[in-house]
Amino acid sequence: MRALHVSKPWGLDELKIVESPDPSPGPGEVLVRMRAVSLNYRDLMMVHGMYGRGPATDGPIIPFSDGCGVIEAVGEGVTRVKPGDRVATMFFQGWISGPPTLEKALTALGAPIPGAGRELAVFSQEGVSKVPDFLTDEQVATLPCAALTAWRALFEDGDLSPGDAVVLQGTGGVSIFGLQFAKAAGLRALITSSSDEKLERARALGADHLVNYRQLPEWSKPVREATGGVGADFIMEVGGQGTIEQSLKAIRIGGHIAIIGVVAQGGSGINPAVLIGNAARMQGVFVGSRDMFEAMCRAIDLHRIAPAVDKVFPWTEVRAAFEAMRAGEHFGKIVLTF
Ligand SMILES: NC(=O)c1ccc[n+]([C@@H]2O[C@H](COP(=O)([O-])OP(=O)(O)OC[C@H]3O[C@@H](n4cnc5c(N)ncnc54)[C@H](OP(=O)(O)O)[C@@H]3O)[C@@H](O)[C@H]2O)c1
Repeated sequence: MRALHVSKPWGLDELKIVESPDPSPGPGEVLVRMRAVSLNYRDLMMVHGMYGRGPATDGPIIPFSDGCGVIEAVGEGVTRVKPGDRVATMFFQGWISGPPTLEKALTALGAPIPGAGRELAVFSQEGVSKVPDFLTDEQVATLPCAALTAWRALFEDGDLSPGDAVVLQGTGGVSIFGLQFAKAAGLRALITSSSDEKLERARALGADHLVNYRQLPEWSKPVREATGGVGADFIMEVGGQGTIEQSLKAIRIGGHIAIIGVVAQGGSGINPAVLIGNAARMQGVFVGSRDMFEAMCRAIDLHRIAPAVDKVFPWTEVRAAFEAMRAGEHFGKIVLTF
C-alpha cells in the first residue's frame, strides 16, 4: 500500500508517496481502506512544520486527520464495526466522551498519531465512527475536524437560543459548517468574506447578513446595525490576532467568542479593557469528542445537511490541493479521493 509522508526540512516539496507492506489489524483494531480525506488548515501548517510548537519529530508524519473509509478487516474482540461498514476517522483517537484532558489531546490524528493520508490504515476500533448513509464519501471526509469544531463551539460551549445572532468569519471549512449548523438551529447568521461571489454562495446556504471584510474592515459596525445596536450573541473567531479586535467590538455584553483559528495576520490583538467593558466570554476550542461527533451526525442526518465540498483532487495531486488551500480559492472544503 502507499502512504503520504512528509519530513524535515518540511514544506510541499517534502511530500512523498511511499510504499510499504499492507498492515493488518491487531486485537481491538480495524483495517480501513481509505476513500477520501479532507484538508484542514492544520494539515497545511503541519506539512510546513509549523503546527503548534512544531512537530516533536523530524518525521515522517502521515498527514490528515479527516478521512472516510470502509472497514476491510477487524481484529479480535472488535464489536463497534464490521467489514463493509463505512466510517469516519475521529480527530482525537482517544477522546471518546467527557471533558478534554491532556491525555486525550495527545491522541490527535496526523500528529502525533499517523494520519489518514494512506490507502490502508489501522486504527483502534474506538477511533472510528459510522456515518450517515446519505452523505458521499467526500462529504464524510469533511466532518471529523472542521464540522465538529463548529458544532462544539455552537452547541457544546455556546449558550444559544433560536433567533440569536452569530457571526461567521470567512467562508472556509469551519465557518461554512458554522453557517449550516446555525441555520438548522434557527439562528441568525452574519458571515464575512473577502469575496462578493463567496458571499452570494453563503446567501444561498441561508446567511442572513453578508459583509465583505476587504471593503469594510470595520465589520463590527454592520454587525451592530444588524442587531439593533446590541451586538452579536456569538462569534466564531477563526481569524485570531487579525480579527479579534473587531470581534470584541461586535460582541454583545455577555456574549460568547469561540476562539478557534489563526488565519488572519496583523491586528492589535486583545484589549483587556474592551473585554472587561463588554463582559464577554472567550472560550478556546480544540475540536471535540466522539460523543460530540455522533450527536453532530444525528443532526446532519435529521436536517440532511450536505457539507460544502468545493474542490476534489486525486490524492496523488495533494500538492495542487494544498496550493489551492493556501491561495484561499475554496468555499468550504477541499477533498482528496483515493
Ligand atoms: N481549534 C480547532 O479545533 C480548530 C479546528 C479547525 C480549524 N481550526 C483553525 O481555524 C482556522 C480556519 O480553519 P479552516 O479549516 O476553516 O480554514 P480554511 O478552510 O482554509 O478557511 C480559511 C478562510 O479564512 C478566511 N479568512 C482569511 N482571513 C480572514 C480575515 N481577515 N477575516 C475573516 N476571514 C478571513 C478566508 O475566507 P474568505 O476566502 O471568504 O475571505 C479563508 O477562506 C485555521 O486557523 C485552523 O487552523 C481550528
